[in-house]
Amino acid sequence: MVGFPQSTVRCPMSSVSRRACKSAAESGAIIKAKPQSRVQSLQQSMERLMEFEINGDLVSLPEKLRHASLLDVIRDHFGLKGTKFGCGRGLCGACTVHVDGLATRSCQMTPASVAGSSIVTIEGLVDGGRLHPVQKAWISERVPQCGYCQPGQIMTAVAFLRHSPSPSDADIRATMSGNLCRCGTYPRIRAAVARAARDAGHD
Ligand code: FES
Ligand code: FES
Repeated sequence: MVGFPQSTVRCPMSSVSRRACKSAAESGAIIKAKPQSRVQSLQQSMERLMEFEINGDLVSLPEKLRHASLLDVIRDHFGLKGTKFGCGRGLCGACTVHVDGLATRSCQMTPASVAGSSIVTIEGLVDGGRLHPVQKAWISERVPQCGYCQPGQIMTAVAFLRHSPSPSDADIRATMSGNLCRCGTYPRIRAAVARAARDAGHD
């Protein structure tokens, strides 16, 4: 049996079958690999990146994270632990962030779905060391109990008040009812949203 001269014959499996390659090698023919184009080489040697903004910083992610959960990327890749995992199914609101200003459940998004967008997490609400007015209202009303749901509650409230600066009690109740709180802080949450709206009106 004639050996397969690996050192002199390169058989790209995409274009030449192993069997045909072996037979050609045994007959003494030299098969040259199809040269790669420069573009192919570049594509293989570089990872394509997805870009978006997070809390004002332009960031990029490798293509391999395209289908990861945006929540996992925010917490584990960027280390922004304020955004919480609750249900992972879009039901509780613990993972709420802003995507282009809209309250969005990050557990239901992927990095690919927010490419080119601007994302703000609870850490991004603080401006120059000063708390956001909604965060101040939260403190004034002593809203948190265990605190776990509160970043999501605040992110929902901030986006809501931006679009509805003078909400009725019914509006507040309807909007905030989508964010669950196991500690039952709902009355204080509603009071804080109303206070933030009032305070903004006084500015
Ligand atoms: S963790 Fe995203 S909605 Fe519950
Ligand atoms: S404060 Fe504990 S879950 Fe809301």
